[in-house]
Amino acid sequence: MTHTNGLVPSAGFEYYRDRYWNDFELVVRELNERATGHRDVTWFEHLRDHAGPFRHALVLNCGNGWVERELLERGVVDSAVGVDVSDDLLDEARRHARDLPLRYERLDTNAAEFPDEPFDLVVNHAAMHHVAYIDRVTRRLHELLAPDGVFVSWDYVGPHRNQYTARQWEAAWETNLALPDHVRQRMRYPLLPAMVEGDPTEAIHSELILSTMERYFDLDHRRDLGGGVGYLLLTHNDALHALPPEQAEPHVRTVMEADALLNAAEPSTSLFAYVIARPRQGALDDTEQLATWAAEEDAREVAAADAGGYYYPRTAVAALAEPLGGLMANADGTVAPDELLARVSGRDMVAVLGLRLRIRLGLVGRAVTSRLRRQRT
Ligand SMILES: C[S@@+](CC[C@H](N)C(=O)[O-])C[C@H]1O[C@@H](n2cnc3c(N)ncnc32)[C@H](O)[C@@H]1O
Repeated sequence: MTHTNGLVPSAGFEYYRDRYWNDFELVVRELNERATGHRDVTWFEHLRDHAGPFRHALVLNCGNGWVERELLERGVVDSAVGVDVSDDLLDEARRHARDLPLRYERLDTNAAEFPDEPFDLVVNHAAMHHVAYIDRVTRRLHELLAPDGVFVSWDYVGPHRNQYTARQWEAAWETNLALPDHVRQRMRYPLLPAMVEGDPTEAIHSELILSTMERYFDLDHRRDLGGGVGYLLLTHNDALHALPPEQAEPHVRTVMEADALLNAAEPSTSLFAYVIARPRQGALDDTEQLATWAAEEDAREVAAADAGGYYYPRTAVAALAEPLGGLMANADGTVAPDELLARVSGRDMVAVLGLRLRIRLGLVGRAVTSRLRRQRT
């Protein structure tokens, strides 16, 4: 049975409305460098020159279709099929495609029932981080691709539902404080209830993308693109996006330098990755292993559907953020919960949590009593 309950975006959820970090030219060039080794070579050109060109591509969750139009324009593919669940976005893609060799189909990617055609390229651009049945889909892509075909992926692979660790939140926080007031990000820790309500597919199993790919594909070219600082500070930063490019650039540079440092020191905090992968021979041979993975995935999704869309225990930061947010919303509504959170640094949160733990263990009481004793003697 195919479970798709709650695994498509909520009705009316809009993509392409926000200002992203890669709307800044400098970020594009920096990401080019990290992905391809050259500031002026995009992943499209890199893919074409190192693994292509290709005849026929399947483009997952294609949205408004700009990716496949770019693939055609840059000579990466001869033709493509784009699939998505959103009628509105598919209409937009069809309007733009006019008489280009592009076709569109509406389907729910989770069902992994793709058109059965001779694809030599599958494209995941910001798509797989919306997929719940990630094992089922990745396995099907292996079956569908020609043995010498390519699976290319440029995606968010960070913590699921953007539940950043305190360490990473803190790194972004420190850099934000180094910026002048007028371009500082209003940092908002993504609250799970709001995410589940807004777009329950957002980053649903993002941290499983690469490990699941490794089950079925050889990752020939993998680059960690970072974002631990840059994505958090430059996406949705309205003040910075409103500045003329030459005024924004020095601040974007500061942020991207901090981002590069974090990415070099702790690649595991990288939020994005660029990968060129090829189907691994024999990956489907161990049928017992495949059955286990499928059963695990089915059980996980059924349990989450029963739990209102929640998969994992909350991170420490989220555990603190949610009740704080709730309290403020109930108090008077004049200060939004995220504004309150914006004033609390990651380190403060960790300190508060540490204090709570020490109180619970009775350590604070003991430390205070022994200090008082020392003062008396
Ligand atoms: C972040 S957008 C990316 C769109 C496009 N790939 C791009 O890079 O611009 C995510 C897309 O996934 C689609 N989507 C989400 N869940 C889906 C599902 N279960 N099946 C098919 N498409 C889905 C959305 O409609 C949306 O177009």
